[in-house]
Amino acid sequence: MSKEAKLEKLAAKREEVMLGGGEKKIEKQHQQGKMTARERIDALLDEGSFVELDQFVIHRGTEFGMDKTGAPGEGVVTGYGTMDGRLVYIYSQDFTILGGSLGEMHAAKICKVMDMALKVGAPVIGINDSGGARIQEGVDALNGYGEIFRRNTLASGVIPQISVIMGPCAGGAVYSPALTDYIFMVNSANMFITGPQVIKAVTGEDVSAEALGGAMAHNKTSGNAHFYADNEPECIGQIRRLLSFLPSNNLAGPPVFACNDPADRMEQILVDLVPDDPNKSYDMHDAIIAIADNKDFFEVQQYYATNIITGFIRLNGVSVGVIANQPKSAAGCLDINASDKAGRHIRFCDAMGIPLLTFVDTPGYLPGVAQEHGGIIRHGAKLLYAYSEATVPKLTVITRKAYGGAYLAMCAKSLGADMAIAWPSAQIAVMGAQGAANIVFRKDIEGADDPQAKRQEKIAEYEEKFSNPYCAAARGLVDMVIEPEYTRIHLIKALDSLLTKKEARPGKKHGNLPV
Ligand code: HXC
Repeated sequence: MSKEAKLEKLAAKREEVMLGGGEKKIEKQHQQGKMTARERIDALLDEGSFVELDQFVIHRGTEFGMDKTGAPGEGVVTGYGTMDGRLVYIYSQDFTILGGSLGEMHAAKICKVMDMALKVGAPVIGINDSGGARIQEGVDALNGYGEIFRRNTLASGVIPQISVIMGPCAGGAVYSPALTDYIFMVNSANMFITGPQVIKAVTGEDVSAEALGGAMAHNKTSGNAHFYADNEPECIGQIRRLLSFLPSNNLAGPPVFACNDPADRMEQILVDLVPDDPNKSYDMHDAIIAIADNKDFFEVQQYYATNIITGFIRLNGVSVGVIANQPKSAAGCLDINASDKAGRHIRFCDAMGIPLLTFVDTPGYLPGVAQEHGGIIRHGAKLLYAYSEATVPKLTVITRKAYGGAYLAMCAKSLGADMAIAWPSAQIAVMGAQGAANIVFRKDIEGADDPQAKRQEKIAEYEEKFSNPYCAAARGLVDMVIEPEYTRIHLIKALDSLLTKKEARPGKKHGNLPV
């Protein structure tokens, strides 16, 4: 064969791969408002940066007509490129080829990029759009999933792993996303272990695919997903933004951007943020936004367990993970879902070396039979565990209520806060004044001529004594009591002093997080 003929052969083979499942299937994909696997990669990565691997991998299936079925590229596009100049590895399932179903060699392509990402310490982004295990390949397909799951687990805590659900993701296939750090879902996508038909057959329940496993169902109700987007371009924008806050791996340190927002910026809005009436709520987002560089806050899981806020900001250019009680939602109490949500965010940040900033205003753990029987004891313990385990710089700001176990769980000094700052409005106590008065002064109140007046008197007495930051300050359990408008200034100073922090933990195989 001449050199020209060899080059022509290469070009022809490549052209076949580029066409995926063919024009008709591509058109169907577009009609559904979906991009193709390649278009998604192009939209996500810096222009011209994508390097494709394994273009010519083919399957080895022979059953059920597979020996006569071609699958150019094996139904998944894999390789590497850059996002905002930073190296990422990527795979994108191609629904136009055998429904993006995962067979032995499809899985092998994915495993190769995961192995490479782990070796060089770069994030992996997996775009899911697939009918799941390739039915014709039987156990070879299942084995492929197992190989991916194991790699997801080994890479956990070493490189950021991001799953993007842009089509169906069904059956055991959901467990790769579940093992990764973040799940992005587009409105039209869905994710479930067993779909509506199986559920109908087994339990008789009638439910649509969207209600069962749609993007909002997982963002709001199940908490499986972290980000919701109306469409694919919006989702791609969100992925870029998240990546900008993350290091490439656990040893790289948080990304630092040049900061044009003054480090000595005072923020008057914080002066009146906390209402005088302790039963009145306010929006903790206002505190986070006020102190963040350029007032820029990127929220994670914004629709789930809204009584706690999680996300990322920068302080003088340094990425910081934020955890904050939200007085506007269920008074900012801690419950099962809030503990799970915050615990996971803390552990991700700690694994990736991202400092933690905690805002505290919580009346405590949520009382109730459902919470107790749902396991609030072990779920709530995740917060204590995650904060105690974390060795990154830990900053805590107590704005108002910090009661009881929840005071501890929100990164108290005893859990290792490096800098605990209180506003004058802080109330650090075993419980709120009303509850305390009812218990401690019950006899006084019952025996009084005017029990109501006595009760108010005792509440006031308790408030005067304990509902303030000064008892904690007297023991060094808060490091500073500051005027709220100086919060950004003090946080930046503290973070700056803590960036070289080193804290050792006892050597062990791994701990046993309460799950
Ligand atoms: C082989 C598959 C396939 C699969 C879809 N296709 N899923 N081929 N294995 N799992 C093929 C279809 O035959 C079809 O081929 C093409 O992909 C497009 O599929 P359609 O059904 O025409 O598309 P659509 O109507 O959009 O429906 C998409 C779908 C449906 C909802 C995903 O295809 C579906 O329900 N698929 C099966 C889902 C499933 O049960 N998977 C197994 C899950 S169990 P042609 O040639 O006609 O274009 C699992 C176990 C993993 O994944 C375990 C890990 C531990």
